[in-house]
Amino acid sequence: MKRFLVSGATGRIGKRLAVHLASQAGGLRLLVRDRSRMPVLPFSECVQGDFDDMNSMAAAFDGVQAAFLYTPAHPDPRLIQLAVKQGVQHVVLLSSASVVKVSAADNPVARRHRLAEEAVLEGGIAWTFLRPDMLASNCLSWAPSIRTERCVYVPFPESQRNPIHEDDVALVAAHAMVSGHLMGRALSLTGPSCLTIAQQVELIGQSTGTTLRCVQIDTEQAVHAMSSGPSAVPMEVARRLVEYMRKTTTTAPEISPDFELAMGRAPRPFADWVADHIVDFCPYPN
Ligand SMILES: NC(=O)c1ccc[n+]([C@@H]2O[C@H](COP(=O)([O-])OP(=O)(O)OC[C@H]3O[C@@H](n4cnc5c(N)ncnc54)[C@H](OP(=O)(O)O)[C@@H]3O)[C@@H](O)[C@H]2O)c1
Repeated sequence: MKRFLVSGATGRIGKRLAVHLASQAGGLRLLVRDRSRMPVLPFSECVQGDFDDMNSMAAAFDGVQAAFLYTPAHPDPRLIQLAVKQGVQHVVLLSSASVVKVSAADNPVARRHRLAEEAVLEGGIAWTFLRPDMLASNCLSWAPSIRTERCVYVPFPESQRNPIHEDDVALVAAHAMVSGHLMGRALSLTGPSCLTIAQQVELIGQSTGTTLRCVQIDTEQAVHAMSSGPSAVPMEVARRLVEYMRKTTTTAPEISPDFELAMGRAPRPFADWVADHIVDFCPYPN
């Protein structure tokens, strides 16, 4: 029996959340899909499982008080029904600001997160929804071209963003799970201010001691780049993301007070995120 379950313990947010919860009384269970990638943390146990495999999830949920769940690729209400059956009392769901920013009817990202939220709401379990708008970790997709060519290929360098550090998302998830204070709340999570892509690239350059350039590409090239390669998204999603970039050249995304209201301090600035990821952007030695 463990008090907390963290799914996606190999994920950027999940692995940080696991560290924040490892020292909590009552114990921690980590869920991973691939046994060979099990993290080693004190006071924790690791189980193998998959949201699509209900047998594995029954074992993962068993005896857990609070569970952190990523939004599955194909949300299935049976997952939450199973959590309730196994005694889980509180689900902290990593959702997305897209559920309130765009119509779920014609946006696949919003639709997936909306379905996951609805399954939790209908499951009759205490809940907290974390709705990041833009994770700062998206910028890691720039690392290969920054390291090798000292540039970033983007369709709209003046697109404005409100990036939040993934560790701030993990911290608010930990607070929700430990304190229970955020039950019944959907938190909109953003960084403390807006920056253009060009400003973000400049900050990365300053921190790595290099001069970086934004190279403007056309929208079709951007869609092609996003929908191919190791972290490819479906073409339809890529088109929406590029369209969103265009829109935010003239309309800045909102800055939410929710993180500060929950945690008693402002979310960390983008410069802090860069400092924490500096090795990802440093040029390879010659
Ligand atoms: N990017 C953004 O700007 C943004 C904005 C709003 C919301 N979000 C939300 O944040 C998420 C990204 O967070 P992140 O950066 O921490 O993600 P990440 O690093 O890609 O980690 C995702 C985790 O989920 C696990 N996972 C995936 N499918 C699973 C399944 N079927 N069963 C069990 N575990 C599964 C993965 O396991 P493996 O390691 O085995 O793959 C991994 O541990 C997005 O998916 C979205 O829901 C993102």
